[in-house]
Amino acid sequence: MTQAATGFITPLTFQALSGNPVHTALLDANAENAMSHISLARWADMLVIAPATANVLAKLSHGLADDLLTTLYLAANCPVYVAPAMNQAMWHKPVTQDNVARLKAHGVQIIGPEAGDQACGETGFGRMSEPEQICRCLFKTASSSILQGVKILISAGPTREPLDPVRYLTNRSSGKMGYALATAAADAGAVVTLVSGPVQLPAPKQVTVINVETAAQMYDAVLEAAGHHAIYIGTAAVADYRPVPANDKIKKQDGQTILVLHKTQDILAAVSALERRPFTVGFAAETQHLEQYALNKLEQKKLDMIAANWVGQDSGGFDSNQNALQVYWANGQRHLAMTDKNQLAEQLLKLIAERFQTSTS
Ligand code: C5P
Repeated sequence: MTQAATGFITPLTFQALSGNPVHTALLDANAENAMSHISLARWADMLVIAPATANVLAKLSHGLADDLLTTLYLAANCPVYVAPAMNQAMWHKPVTQDNVARLKAHGVQIIGPEAGDQACGETGFGRMSEPEQICRCLFKTASSSILQGVKILISAGPTREPLDPVRYLTNRSSGKMGYALATAAADAGAVVTLVSGPVQLPAPKQVTVINVETAAQMYDAVLEAAGHHAIYIGTAAVADYRPVPANDKIKKQDGQTILVLHKTQDILAAVSALERRPFTVGFAAETQHLEQYALNKLEQKKLDMIAANWVGQDSGGFDSNQNALQVYWANGQRHLAMTDKNQLAEQLLKLIAERFQTSTS
């Protein structure tokens, strides 16, 4: 309950009627767990804010966190639903509508409001949806999409490692698989952030794209975001080695030349080693020993899943519109047959969602 809510009805009344503890304080030294916003955020399968006032919507949409409810929202990785309730003029105010639009863009589900008589005596939109209606929405969405409102971070495409101001080292990755996964995840209701190397693809709709060029930039962007995402899917073909770029264009010379290359940091392994780690999915593109190499990576990089595919063959893999995947996890595997990368992305995402749900239940 917010401070304002306790002005209408006391926490004791709520506790007695519901038979559940009522939380009101952000930091309560007397409570069993003083950091209740973090433990409540981890515990909840869904966060439902009903009724949500214009003030709460404004705070949530701007990331203000000055009480238990708004801080809990920031700490939560689960799907979030709000059921607005306010005077009809407040609801129609452009700034409230902007806040609602921002929340929707952040993956929050808005339930209602309905039109009708209001407590203030006016008539119009702003009545909170009936509790039965709110419950119907929650159960319907919960069964139709596991990924609704879940924050998913995806890396895609190649990286570009400069040799000098005009040249770089890169690889054949087109980014198609990662972009198809980002689109499928957004369609499934997830809140998607895509960290992309240089590709020739349009940004997927409803996805936040962070453009990077080098492996080091990709590392920084992914590691900064990973802690507040529930799932990380590393589809990017990250350079394993990088040259130290020369300040001036390297001049042609007689005979051979030698490039000194330095190892880059492994982004996927670093994400999976985080204390607050997302469900971590890697990719393995191989020209030989597919299963053995994929299983080694699953174990060495401590991944939740790995999707392996052949590259350098007649069909599928890098720069192709089609692909087939062999997906492994602890004690399980599944083959996803050769198909269009968009369809394959949907199948893989479904599998990731199932494993993700198992890991959190
Ligand atoms: O070990 P290998 O590079 O084959 O592993 C492939 C997987 O590791 C991919 O998911 C890729 O995105 C990730 N990777 C990474 N950082 C690197 C190299 C690979 O995240 N420096």
